[in-house]
Amino acid sequence: MSLHEQLSEASAFIKNATRHKAIRAVVVLGSGLGEFADTLPGADVIEYAKIPHFQTSTVQGHAGRLVIGEIAPGFPIACMQGRFHFYEGHGMPQVVFPLRALRQLGADFLLVTNAAGGIQPELTPGSLMLIEDHLNLMGDNPLKGANHDFLGPRFPDMSEAYNSSLREIACSVASENGIELKSGVYAGISGPMYETPAEIRMLRTLGADAVGMSTVPEVIAANHMGMKTLGISCITNQAAGLSPYKLSHQEVMETAEHAKQRFVTLIQGTLLRLAAQPVLSSQVNS
Ligand code: HPA
Repeated sequence: MSLHEQLSEASAFIKNATRHKAIRAVVVLGSGLGEFADTLPGADVIEYAKIPHFQTSTVQGHAGRLVIGEIAPGFPIACMQGRFHFYEGHGMPQVVFPLRALRQLGADFLLVTNAAGGIQPELTPGSLMLIEDHLNLMGDNPLKGANHDFLGPRFPDMSEAYNSSLREIACSVASENGIELKSGVYAGISGPMYETPAEIRMLRTLGADAVGMSTVPEVIAANHMGMKTLGISCITNQAAGLSPYKLSHQEVMETAEHAKQRFVTLIQGTLLRLAAQPVLSSQVNS
């Protein structure tokens, strides 16, 4: 079965399983940040396991379900509670499959979140970082192989992978709510082990401010499809070698839990602003 057919089956299934039509934005919720979806009134919940051609998520803290609801009247959003990671053994096409399926339902914005290790000294645990740009150090790419012309062009532009208008909106929502929002470059590595101190020194030299094991595939696929993207990292720990402590998934989950309230306010405020700005929405693909 072709990718086109698989995406059609998945998107038809999702469409039938929710009352909310014409999805406007996809929100990908990273480790410990899934609770945002629980704030959506009147949401429909669809288990990934039921959706044709979706994989199942294996990571603790990732629920593996789609929550679709309206953040504002006429602005349905699809929240991915849990995502598929490259380190779980999924191929890049599987990692980006849900996003591609939701794009078929109309989504033209991607709000992607993650937990990340802070490399830049000011990015201490609990900080929120607006992703300015990324380094793809995963050693693979979701666009590899024959191009799927129905999704986007062979050689997509990545010079504004993280949309500047969306970044401005997020910054103003943060300042209106007294939330400190730092910014920086996210390095995406494959994982699943945390880095060595020498690798962190290398990443710093390369221009990375934070490091994590996700986001880059989705952002590449989103740009390929002409979607406008916003990325926010929750800094859950200082990267390896920058503190005397060992890194653990437990620490990552606990710190994300502490940042949750600020994070929910920021995502909610940004989406509400988008819902109220039809001009920005209509610029997509222009
Ligand atoms: N490295 C990679 N991924 C991560 C980290 C880290 O330090 N923290 C949370 N995700």
